[in-house]
Amino acid sequence: MKHDDLIFFRQWFADYCKSFYTDDPEDQKNILLKEDHTINVCENMVRITGDLLLDEERTLLAETIALFHDVGRFPQYARFKTFRDSDSVNHGVLGSATLIEKRILQSLARDDQDIILESVRFHNAFSIPKNENEDIIFFIRLIRDADKLDIWRVFLEYYESPDGSKASAVGLGLPDVPEYTDGILSVIYDKQIIRLVDLKTLNDFKLLQLSWVFDLNFRPSFQILKERDYINRIAAHLPQTEEINKVIVFLKEYVQEKLLVK
Ligand SMILES: [Fe+2]
Repeated sequence: MKHDDLIFFRQWFADYCKSFYTDDPEDQKNILLKEDHTINVCENMVRITGDLLLDEERTLLAETIALFHDVGRFPQYARFKTFRDSDSVNHGVLGSATLIEKRILQSLARDDQDIILESVRFHNAFSIPKNENEDIIFFIRLIRDADKLDIWRVFLEYYESPDGSKASAVGLGLPDVPEYTDGILSVIYDKQIIRLVDLKTLNDFKLLQLSWVFDLNFRPSFQILKERDYINRIAAHLPQTEEINKVIVFLKEYVQEKLLVK
């Protein structure tokens, strides 16, 4: 693909977002949140691909995937008024279907189209699919990293903002009570990712977000995570118990280890 293709995709995406703008302030806030998120994920992607010294062709593909990864969020929200996939549709699958339906990628080579469609489709899957080719898996890994690095920002802004100005769809409607669910910390000690279906409180959700460090793939991503101090900043919104402090130390040690590996 060429740089001009990316310019065209950016314009298409901006127009597509605008087509969902609405007079309802609540809905508009949620739409802008996703448009903003996309811009940030693109920036994260540029940083990661730069640090990895990818060639121009791969850099352009990666940025296109970043631009389109959440394209399904817009029709999802328009139809269901939620970003909760379990209450609506899988937004990765819907995004990929949207790109096909709108015939956006037609100027690209078949292989490039496949890489983009599969990466959008699986960017939000619980785990990386095993039956894809190596190239596709590489890009799925990239988008999952670039995406998470901005989802952490979105959540921190949500936790840090006063109730009235929160974008309502962010907290998944989980109760903001002091508890977290028994046994959930053992998932982190197993270096696994906490499952959405196991969430009962907002604290569980914060712990799930912390468990995403085990799903980061590239060294530059761990570097960015550390620079932005995400672990400490999320930890500040959890109950300050000894149990939590311990799990935070465990997570930070894991990140340190990953930074030492070349
Ligand atoms: Fe997404």
